[in-house]
Amino acid sequence: MTQTETNEPLALEMRGIVKQFPGVLANDHVDFTLRQGEIHALLGENGAGKSTLMNVLSGLYRPDAGEIYLYGEKVELHSPRDAIEAGIGMVHQHFMLVPTLSVAENVVLGDPSVNYVIHYEALEKRIGEIAEQFGLDIDPKAKIWQLSVGEQQRVEILKMLYQGAKILILDEPTAVLTPQEVTELFKTLQEMTASGRSIIFISHKLDEVLEISDRITVLRRGKVSAEVVSAETTKAELAKTMVGREVVFRIDKKPSEPGDVVLEIDKVNAKNDRGLPALRDLSLTVRSGEVVGIAGVAGNGQTELAAVINGMREVESGRILLNGVDITNKPATVSIDAGMAYIPADRTGVGSAPSLGVDDNIIMKAYRKPPLSHGWSLDLREVARYATDLVKRFNVKTPSIKTQSRLLSGGNLQKMILARELSREPVAITAVYPSRGLDAGATEAVHERLIAERDRGAAILLISEDLDELLSLSDRIAVIYEGQIVGELPPDDSRIEEIGLLMAGSLVR
Ligand SMILES: Nc1ncnc2c1ncn2[C@@H]1O[C@H](COP(=O)(O)OP(=O)(O)OP(=O)(O)O)[C@@H](O)[C@H]1O
Ligand SMILES: [Mg+2]
Repeated sequence: MTQTETNEPLALEMRGIVKQFPGVLANDHVDFTLRQGEIHALLGENGAGKSTLMNVLSGLYRPDAGEIYLYGEKVELHSPRDAIEAGIGMVHQHFMLVPTLSVAENVVLGDPSVNYVIHYEALEKRIGEIAEQFGLDIDPKAKIWQLSVGEQQRVEILKMLYQGAKILILDEPTAVLTPQEVTELFKTLQEMTASGRSIIFISHKLDEVLEISDRITVLRRGKVSAEVVSAETTKAELAKTMVGREVVFRIDKKPSEPGDVVLEIDKVNAKNDRGLPALRDLSLTVRSGEVVGIAGVAGNGQTELAAVINGMREVESGRILLNGVDITNKPATVSIDAGMAYIPADRTGVGSAPSLGVDDNIIMKAYRKPPLSHGWSLDLREVARYATDLVKRFNVKTPSIKTQSRLLSGGNLQKMILARELSREPVAITAVYPSRGLDAGATEAVHERLIAERDRGAAILLISEDLDELLSLSDRIAVIYEGQIVGELPPDDSRIEEIGLLMAGSLVR
C-alpha cells in the first residue's frame, strides 16, 4: 500500500505548529504532511500532543504559531465551521452526537444549507447512498441512544462525509470498537482513500497502525520524533521511538495461586437500558489471587455485569457476594467499603468528575477516612501530599494537581482513575478494558500493576474486548454470550479460535 514518494499531491501541510497551554507546551514546532489518498497514522505517548495538533487542524484551537496549507494554499481556520468548509472533518475521542435525535437529524445538525424545512425523505435517501458507498451499515431513522458505540461512530463518519470532508481525522477510532467492527472500519477507510480522500488516523495499537497506514508520524513531548514509511518499520521499533525504551508486549507472570472465593455471582438476572434481558442466570466466581477474563463481543452483557457488581444497576434476581458481604442491589458505597475497586469503561461519566481537579478526583474514594480526614474535617495538606504522591507514582501527566480532569489527555485521565482505584489495596477489582487509550509504555505499567495486585491476593475480574490483553493477563477466560457464560477455558494462544467461536455464539449448547 506504500505510495511512491513523488507524484501524489500534498493534501495538507502543517508547518511549525506551536500550541501552548498553561504549564504545557503541547505542540512544539510540529511539521506534518498528508498526501492525497494516504492513510497517515499519528502515534505518540499519552499527552504527546496528538489530539491537540488535530484540534488545531479542525479549527477548535488557534495555534500560537505556525501555518496550515491545503492543496498548496495557505488557510486560516478560525472555527470548526471554517475547517468543515475547507473539507476537514474530525471524529473526536469522545463523540459529539445528540442522543435524543435520529441519525439523519444528527447528520444535518449544523449544516448551514439546511434551515427551516428538512426534506427527510431526500435526506434519508442521500444518507443511504453515502452509507452504501462506504459500507457504513446504519438505519437513518434510528435514534442515537439506541445505537451501539460502533454504530455511533459510523454516524460521526457519515456526518463528515455528508458535509463533504476530503481530509478525515479519526482520533483513536478503534479504542471503542470490537475486532469485527475494526475490520469493517478499515474497509470503509480504504473506500475513502480510493475515492481520493485522505485520512489521519490516531491509535495506540501498533499492529493496527502497521496494518492500515501508509506513513507514520511519531510525536514525543510535543515534537515530531520520527516520520516513517509503515512498510519499512516494526512494532518494536515504533514502541521504542515513542517511549524512548524497549517495551514488552506480553507480560511475564508466574502461575496463579488462587485462594478463597472473593467474588461470587449467583444466577444473576438484569436488564439493559432498553429494558431487555442483559444478564440471564449468570453465575461466576473469582478467587483471591487470580485474574478471570471475560471475553465477548460488545453488547453481550459485559457493561451490565460490571454495573451490577458495582452497585450501578439493579439486579432482578440472584445474588452477588463480595468477601461474604451481600452487595446485591446495595448502593455503590457498600461495594467500595467491602473493598471493590472499579475501573469503568466510561471515563468521563462514571469514572471521573470532569470539572473537578485531579486532586479531588484522586481522593474521591479515600477522603472519608484517616489520614485524609479526621471526623468532619478534611486535612488539606494531607490531601495535597496524597494526590501529589499518586500522580507521581502512576505517572499522570498534568500541569498541577489542581488542574481540572477534563483538561487531561485521554490516556492521562485513565491513569488518574487507575491511581485512585489501585492505590487502596482493594480485595477485588473490576477492570473494564484498563489499557484502553493507553500508550505502549503505560499499558505495560498497568498490566504489571494488575498482576502485582493479583500476587498480593486481589481477585480480579477483567472485562476486555482486546483478546491480546485478555490472553496476557488472565488465569482463566470465561466467554460471555447473550448474558450467559457459555464456556470457560485456559488463556492459551492455541485456543483463540475456540474463544472466537464461543464469542460468536456458534458453540452454544
Ligand atoms: N484545553 C486544554 N487545556 C489545558 N491543557 C490541555 C488542553 N488540551 C490538552 N492539554 C494538555 O496538552 C498536552 C497534550 O494533550 P493531548 O490531548 O494533545 O495528548 P494526546 O497525545 O492526544 O494524548 P492521549 O494519547 O492520552 O490522548 C497534555 O499535557 C494535556 O494535558
Ligand atoms: Mg488524545
